[in-house]
Amino acid sequence: MHSKWIFNQIESLKFKKKINLLDFASGNGRNSIPLSKKNIIVTAIDKDQEKLDKYASFKNINTICFDLETNEEWPLIREHYDVIIVVNYLYRPKINKLINLLKKDGFLFYETFSSGNEKYASPKNPNFLLKDRELLEIFGRELLPLSFYDGQSNNGKIVIKQRAGFKKGVFKKTPCY
Ligand SMILES: C[S@@+](CC[C@H](N)C(=O)[O-])C[C@H]1O[C@@H](n2cnc3c(N)ncnc32)[C@H](O)[C@@H]1O
Repeated sequence: MHSKWIFNQIESLKFKKKINLLDFASGNGRNSIPLSKKNIIVTAIDKDQEKLDKYASFKNINTICFDLETNEEWPLIREHYDVIIVVNYLYRPKINKLINLLKKDGFLFYETFSSGNEKYASPKNPNFLLKDRELLEIFGRELLPLSFYDGQSNNGKIVIKQRAGFKKGVFKKTPCY
């Protein structure tokens, strides 16, 4: 099942033309596949070729098998994506480089587990759990925050997640959040 929050965010943008979307650490394609049927050109990147193989031949999806956590530069085009989504993935050392990949008016929607989740479910490793307001800390200085949530999500089982939406672009006022 895809992330309802991600889909609601993208649908609310009401794009009239075909857009380029990057699904970062795309896994089995539970988001990439349905998004590719919505007039969206999807680039799906993940280190797991077996997972990518399941949807590599889908129309409107380009898959890239790549380890995102080495010193090698990501094989992704700068300022190319109208929308970037990241769901259930975190690698702190390089994650702010996503900003360079967004077009000048592009949107980033990020959803992953946060601190407190370890009481209920995996992941429990702090490397994979966002700290308090961490998405705002990472992206909020360079991107305009549009939405932020940190708390319980219940899809049959309790998980603690942070969700944040951002827009790239010039903004004059210091954002208030
Ligand atoms: C929990 S899954 C989430 C997949 C997808 N975003 C979703 O929500 O269904 C995390 C994904 O990150 C990928 N991943 C983990 N480490 C990675 C790395 N170093 N480089 C690229 N992908 C990585 C895994 O292969 C896996 O598909």
